[in-house]
Amino acid sequence: MKINGNVVRVKKKDGEKTKNELKELGLIDEMRIIESDDKYVYIPVLEGSCGRKVVERELEQKEVRKGFRELLIEHFGEENAKGVLSSYDVVGDIAIINIPEELGEHEKDVGRLLLEGDAKLNVVLKKTGGREGEFRVTKLEHLAGEGRTKTEYVENGVRMKVDVSKVYFSPRLSNERKRITGEVKDGENVLILFAGVGPFALEIGKVHPSAKVVGVELNPDAVKYFEENIQLNKLRNVEAVLGDAKKVVTEKYSRWADRIAMPLPKGALEFLDVAFAAAKPGCVVHFYSMVEKDGGTGKLKEKIMDGARKAGREVEFILEKEVRPYSASTVQVVIDFLVK
Ligand SMILES: C[S@@+](CC[C@H](N)C(=O)[O-])C[C@H]1O[C@@H](n2cnc3c(N)ncnc32)[C@H](O)[C@@H]1O
Repeated sequence: MKINGNVVRVKKKDGEKTKNELKELGLIDEMRIIESDDKYVYIPVLEGSCGRKVVERELEQKEVRKGFRELLIEHFGEENAKGVLSSYDVVGDIAIINIPEELGEHEKDVGRLLLEGDAKLNVVLKKTGGREGEFRVTKLEHLAGEGRTKTEYVENGVRMKVDVSKVYFSPRLSNERKRITGEVKDGENVLILFAGVGPFALEIGKVHPSAKVVGVELNPDAVKYFEENIQLNKLRNVEAVLGDAKKVVTEKYSRWADRIAMPLPKGALEFLDVAFAAAKPGCVVHFYSMVEKDGGTGKLKEKIMDGARKAGREVEFILEKEVRPYSASTVQVVIDFLVK
């Protein structure tokens, strides 16, 4: 649709320069599209044009695409939309969503609106259960778009292929991966105990070519993608090891690590002995866990100290912080400690 309004008309050769000047001054009317003919360029402007002559002209209106949030609220109301909006993840071009009970019969519409409202999405999957089993894989069903569960995801400059129906993957720890990558020093041996498709290991390996990074993972599908991702990012200093962290560490990585990450928030306590076995004196451990929302980390730290005593080691706590809310009553925290 065309709408009438002020435009600055300039000769074609001056079009780009004028457009940039007007843009810098915040004077371009972004709701209308710039047009040109054989001689002139017509730049839509808001009120005032820094002393330039303006003329009136009809220009085509820009199509403004409504976002998913807006569409969902428009169709189902703010209350109903909340449950979806607060819990959906995007991995590459796949959206993974929770359908609240109230929207159950409209789930296909929710999927359709998501595709309509977010241009980078091609697939919508719905969660049909929580994270299950040792591999922590979410049960998913197809809801809209292409019928696949594989995608490519880019995080902090690293490309990762992942099949979200076969492996654990969450974009929600991306800030933690960035933080830890920033703490790694040149030449460190870094051990990631529950590596998944490799996000921690790959990001550290890419930024620190002199570090040696080993990721241990039990799920064969995850290790397959982890290996593929090492190739994809052309990393020579990262190794994916298939196996149970308990076994692998005692067999190969005793007193090896300068840094250990333990991203297994619902079970890492059971692997404290493994971390102490792998830690060189001076090793920093990044330990993830769930805790009660208002319960603090006191008990967790006692358990860590207890584990250290049993292993004949001492620890010094360096940092603790909330990483993200997990449920109504629990939050995920990280505790960084030094092993002496
Ligand atoms: C919460 S996920 C974290 C994955 C990855 N670090 C990430 O952030 O995407 C935990 C991973 O630990 C793996 N796992 C569970 N038990 C394990 C064990 N005993 N040894 C090695 N990996 C294990 C699971 O298969 C899963 O991929």
